[in-house]
Amino acid sequence: MKTVILGAACLTLCTALFITSANAATATRGSFGALADGTRIEAVTLTNGAGMSARIMTLGATLQSLTVADRNGRREDVTLGYDKPQDYLTRPNYFGVSVGRFANRIAKGKFALDGKTYALVTNDGPNSLHGGAKGFDKRVWKIESISNGSDAKVIMSYVSADGEEGFPGELKVTVTYALNEKNELRLDYRATTSKPTVVNLTNHAYFNLSGNAARDVMGNLVTLHAERFTPVDATLIPTGERRPVAGTPFDFRKATAVGTRIRDARDQQIRYGRGYDHNFIVDGAPGNLRTAAVVEEPVSGRVMEVRVTAPGIQFYTGNFMDGTFFGKNQRSYRQGDAICLEPGTFPDAPNRADFPTARLNPGQTYVNSMVFAFRTK
Ligand code: GLA
Repeated sequence: MKTVILGAACLTLCTALFITSANAATATRGSFGALADGTRIEAVTLTNGAGMSARIMTLGATLQSLTVADRNGRREDVTLGYDKPQDYLTRPNYFGVSVGRFANRIAKGKFALDGKTYALVTNDGPNSLHGGAKGFDKRVWKIESISNGSDAKVIMSYVSADGEEGFPGELKVTVTYALNEKNELRLDYRATTSKPTVVNLTNHAYFNLSGNAARDVMGNLVTLHAERFTPVDATLIPTGERRPVAGTPFDFRKATAVGTRIRDARDQQIRYGRGYDHNFIVDGAPGNLRTAAVVEEPVSGRVMEVRVTAPGIQFYTGNFMDGTFFGKNQRSYRQGDAICLEPGTFPDAPNRADFPTARLNPGQTYVNSMVFAFRTK
């Protein structure tokens, strides 16, 4: 009898525990206003039991905010962005957006596939940047599903027509954002195509771990697990070299403050990038999630670890932000106010047979996964 009662009590308790933990992370769908032309934008907020939350809006499948506790439990937004969706179109800076069809640059906006040359819009000097004039960041994505549980999830999709922005093949794209109880936000980009094409999908979050962009990132300690990086020309197209970071301002193999070498004008790469705006070759085998970067903000104690499956990661320090536009909380954003870590293949891969391929064939599924994991120190 005792055993039965104990058993029943345990069953009730265990079920309660299971339900509590299983339902701790929630996804909530709501309106996020409208664009100037009246198009309605929605947002999904993922929240875990620890109070970390991520808001993803349908315009550009964009990470619009990410609220994370500091070492004293104070929850603040650690990404740059705008309050209103229209600002993402009027003053585009790619804040938190999903970038495609090809993130980063393609030289002269041209590439060849199976003997045919394709011409893209050039929107960055002589080059094509982040998918062209109207990339995936400026499209309204569809919410496929939301779910609660041990992690809270949203899946958004976008179908890019054959020929859109000059790229061949109809591309069906999804992104899954999932927030778990370990304060890890995971993104999985997937795509399939109707014809051979080139793909490089990533997220372009601008991180400022001080919270609400209180301070610049020059004192952030950055570790990059990269023995080499890909130097660029004056238009930020890789030269093809894979240069060892040892002995250069690009050596972040040990945690180093961003500001320590960012003004070292003796290095031509620093001059070309106006600071850091370079692809680092992530150590280890692509396809496996491995730690690419760790960022520590000493004042708030927030630490972010970035794990990626991609072969490369673009490290960019917001060098083009000039203080002329205003983001969330009425903050003006200036050079060096954020760290972007954009996992993907190497820039201009479609024109470089020796770089990890950007080619996607019908029947294959493109996958790019990344985890942004937070803790405090
Ligand atoms: C990427 C590029 C930068 C810049 C930003 C967006 O990080 O490498 O040069 O264009 O996107 O402003």
